[in-house]
Amino acid sequence: MTTLDDDRDQLRSNLELIGREKIDDLEAVLSLVGQYDVEGFHRVPDHCPAEFTWDYEKGAKPQLDKLYEKAKKAQWNAQTDLDWSIEVDQEQVVMANAEANPAQMQWDPAALVGTALENWDDKRFMQFGIENQNWLLSQFMHGEQGALLCTAKIVETVPWIDAKYYAATQVMDEARHVEVFSKYLDEKLSGHYPMNAHLGLLLDDIVSDSRWDMTYLGMQIMVEGLALAAFGFIHMMTTEPLLKKLLRYVMADEARHVAFGVLSLQEYYKELSAAELRERQEFAFEAAIRMKDRMAMQEVWERMEVPTSDVIKIMGMAPEQDDFQVLLFSKIVPNLKKLGLLDAADGWLRTKFTEMGAIAFEHLTDSTEDEDAFADGSPADRQVA
Ligand SMILES: [Fe+2]
Ligand SMILES: [Fe+2]
Repeated sequence: MTTLDDDRDQLRSNLELIGREKIDDLEAVLSLVGQYDVEGFHRVPDHCPAEFTWDYEKGAKPQLDKLYEKAKKAQWNAQTDLDWSIEVDQEQVVMANAEANPAQMQWDPAALVGTALENWDDKRFMQFGIENQNWLLSQFMHGEQGALLCTAKIVETVPWIDAKYYAATQVMDEARHVEVFSKYLDEKLSGHYPMNAHLGLLLDDIVSDSRWDMTYLGMQIMVEGLALAAFGFIHMMTTEPLLKKLLRYVMADEARHVAFGVLSLQEYYKELSAAELRERQEFAFEAAIRMKDRMAMQEVWERMEVPTSDVIKIMGMAPEQDDFQVLLFSKIVPNLKKLGLLDAADGWLRTKFTEMGAIAFEHLTDSTEDEDAFADGSPADRQVA
């Protein structure tokens, strides 16, 4: 992400923000494929000043204080609150998913004519379904690590004690989420994937920005808002009981996390100048596109040795996949509206989400009214289903 010229009053073009003119330029999207770093780790300078506060008055921000008190009682234990003895048959899961959701999970045979998939046998299609599961859960795991690092950063950088307290509970939540997805991948699935290239670019941008509210906007509002919608979709769709319960527990935490983002930013954004708001709008747009881009699952296509031209043809004939991608913005759009970011700068961001087909979600309730966020007790005690 670039920084703002103080005298600039124009919003940047798509080319400047996301490196291409057309949002749906699949060739450009597919050209970036995630790889493991050869060093075995990935280091990002985070440039952030760690901020001490001498104002220890607990409850000065009453809604954040309330969320903190709820969070303390909502903890659960990834090792003991889930039944890890459940056996997962990946092939059976692939078949059950395809049966329950034909529009989402099965390709139109006409789209496969003339592509590498035309000659795939059942075994190869099954392998593709299994790789999909491995990829998706790997992305969840990497995204959770991003959340873990970002929340630790928020503890350091946010100026209010109530927010530092709350963010500390979220650090614990995110550690549990990394743990639970990592355990599921290792014990129940059959392989890992590196972080998707587009998700990686976004997380690097979020972590390297020095301004505390950008960590919130990128992680709490955009990445976690999308994750909450994605978890909800998979939770609804899957018949695998361990994953279903695991996701439901994680969602109970994520509802709190997104509410934390909106509650923290809503006052602060009222004080920002028009130029500062424009920059937040641009960042939200960039984040939305990066997250949409990751849905192309470049890493899976590459592992299955499908040429990019074939992927473009197949994806171009799968409008249901677009519908699914749009659904992922259902939590994000009402929250951006609540923060005033949809309508600042003559509705620039509203136009962007209208072009993406996601603007209708603005009428849904925002995350500060999510019952899960303020529920009493842990999901294990509440017996959530
Ligand atoms: Fe999480
Ligand atoms: Fe989270």
